[in-house]
Amino acid sequence: MASITFAHIAKSYKDTPVIKGINLEVADGEFMVFVGPSGCGKSTMLRMVAGLESITAGDLLIDGVRVNELGPSERGAAMVFQNYALYPHMTVAQNMGFGLRMSGMAKPAVALQVQEVAQTLQITHLLERYPKALSGGQRQRVAIGRAIVRRPKVFLFDEPLSNLDASLRVQLRIELAKLHQQLKTTMVYVTHDQTEAMTLGQRIAVFNQGHIEQVGTPVELYQKPANRFVAEFLGSPKINMLGYTWDEAKQVMRISPHLALPPSLFKAAPHRLAQGALLGLRPEHCTLSAQDTGFVGTIEFMEYLGDSVLAYLHLSGVEELFRLKINQPHSPLKVGQVVNIAYSNDELMVFGADGLAV
Ligand SMILES: Nc1ncnc2c1ncn2[C@@H]1O[C@H](COP(=O)(O)OP(=O)(O)OP(=O)(O)O)[C@@H](O)[C@H]1O
Ligand SMILES: [Mg+2]
Repeated sequence: MASITFAHIAKSYKDTPVIKGINLEVADGEFMVFVGPSGCGKSTMLRMVAGLESITAGDLLIDGVRVNELGPSERGAAMVFQNYALYPHMTVAQNMGFGLRMSGMAKPAVALQVQEVAQTLQITHLLERYPKALSGGQRQRVAIGRAIVRRPKVFLFDEPLSNLDASLRVQLRIELAKLHQQLKTTMVYVTHDQTEAMTLGQRIAVFNQGHIEQVGTPVELYQKPANRFVAEFLGSPKINMLGYTWDEAKQVMRISPHLALPPSLFKAAPHRLAQGALLGLRPEHCTLSAQDTGFVGTIEFMEYLGDSVLAYLHLSGVEELFRLKINQPHSPLKVGQVVNIAYSNDELMVFGADGLAV
């Protein structure tokens, strides 16, 4: 078990900076998730920890010890990749034991350790098979087993479940969470999947173009995003963003020439709204109202999701359709209908013209 410290970590390929001075502390035993758009540097971060990529500047510490110059095998980090990366000519048992054999452990001891881990992951019956005779889910279990067997100080997962179908992803996600509870080893986990990020991460770091936008618990990031980027990145369906100008004389937010909203609609303080330029309204916090709220939209189309309905509304003078989630399997609403919108959450998200939360 170990903490991981990134101190002013930077990485460039030739003259192109891809990681731009990152400071981050992953606590001993923590499950940390990295999310962010494609190309923002998540894999590069993991590869630097694993020792698969050199570090251009800054200090990387594992358990308080600087490891910048240490080779991959000296760092006590094990990495699991998206594409499994199993050796095709070795059986499952040989794949799992390979690292231990290489480090000089005697065969019987290796076999014992492999057996133990295979039991934990319920793959004992697969030990003599070759990777080509395994399903995707089984292969990824083996890849995870190969990482565990070495008893690393830190686990690094780079989108380990993204090649699996939806139901298997959910199953393995739960198993990974259990594994973390059981082993209590520090884990850093990269994913594109919001649900994985929210459910697995004790904390989430949101990356954007080589820097971190915000680090926090899933609830903090969802309820109190530091900026527009984080607000838009987390949450599905995506948060609505409504640009406005504050009309001091009338004490309303002008969304468009035909749409002005009073602060009372959101239980928000006018002085706060006066500083902002953008409202963030999550679709699940917007409801339909039988009363005239003055916040009206016309239904353009609807999506039925089984347990809920997603309505897309046209607001007068607003280009982007407004998303509203109705928590009922059916809805009596019809396309073309004009409806009143209310806001159910106590906390209103307001962002300034610079995108920072107000
Ligand atoms: N060997 C390399 N040479 C030059 N540029 C590279 C190299 N490896 C990665 N990059 C660049 O570094 C940036 C970060 O890449 P990285 O793989 O870390 O992104 P990522 O966040 O993992 O993306 P994804 O979600 O698509 O996996 C990208 O712009 C990528 O093109
Ligand atoms: Mg990647």
